[in-house]
Amino acid sequence: MTGSARDGRRFARAESETPCVSPTPLTVISALDHDSWTEPPAAREARVAADSLERGDVLFFPFLDFEIDAGEQALFSPAILSSAKNASFHPVTARVGGTRVEGNDLDRLRGLMARFNERANALVRSLAPAYRDHLQVGRTSFRPAEIAGRASWWWQDDTRLHVDSFPATPVQGRRILRVFSNVNLEGKPRSWRVGDAFERVAARFARTLRIPSPTGAAVLHLLRVTETRRSAYDGLMLQLHNRMKRDADFQACSPQMPFDFPAGTTWMAFTDQVSHAAMAGQYEMEQTFLLPPAAMLDESRSPLRILERLKHRRLV
Ligand code: SIN
Ligand code: FE
Repeated sequence: MTGSARDGRRFARAESETPCVSPTPLTVISALDHDSWTEPPAAREARVAADSLERGDVLFFPFLDFEIDAGEQALFSPAILSSAKNASFHPVTARVGGTRVEGNDLDRLRGLMARFNERANALVRSLAPAYRDHLQVGRTSFRPAEIAGRASWWWQDDTRLHVDSFPATPVQGRRILRVFSNVNLEGKPRSWRVGDAFERVAARFARTLRIPSPTGAAVLHLLRVTETRRSAYDGLMLQLHNRMKRDADFQACSPQMPFDFPAGTTWMAFTDQVSHAAMAGQYEMEQTFLLPPAAMLDESRSPLRILERLKHRRLV
């Protein structure tokens, strides 16, 4: 990795640090000076942000901090969780899930996530005006569990490189755009690995991806395993996610680089496209958006269109 947040506008495409080096281009961490959730970014930044995201970069805001109020610090414990990973907030219903806190603490937790939802909304809309009218706001989460050493099944293990795919909530080809803030109060970084370009990862696994049967998708929906019927695209993305996580050689030897997001910083990426793994860190805010590919500057860069080219057929 070369450069720092201040001097290098971009963190260079680095080579793998594993013994099985593969000197190929991969995900870029692109640093922007923008330091406000609500003020419009500089013209240059607004011009390049969407293009950079669609290329598969991670947009990194080293000077954009999500502030935690004094009253919220009591929520900073994994003991607030009733589920394995996250507390979540549904911006439309204001429903909070995944937590065991009640009463005033529940209101505080709701307030924390609602505030992040507002901030992330304002940020994405000002940075990517082209997306503004097409974004669908998904769930907000607060992630108070330490990632390193957390036990999980391999397919749920986010320390393995993967692209995001939702097993229960099919996206029907829509993009998954996520905003993250490291809110660790003790200054611990969020340590990620990022991997190779989507097109190359998808090409590597394409032969092993099977077009799922429509009957199977209908049954899963009927049994309420999925909220809506899984499209062929959703089925392929889930297989890709699983193939990546299960392949030890891919995990160890595919092009990748480690990157630490310091406490007090923010970043965003199309996580259905960017290969990523979260290796260590505790306390993070996250906001999910969905975006129809037609709203992109260049739809041909979406995983939907890339998989359609690789499989020679329409997938939604
Ligand atoms: C993931 O999306 O795989 C996890 C990212 C994180 O929690 O930092
Ligand atoms: Fe992920």
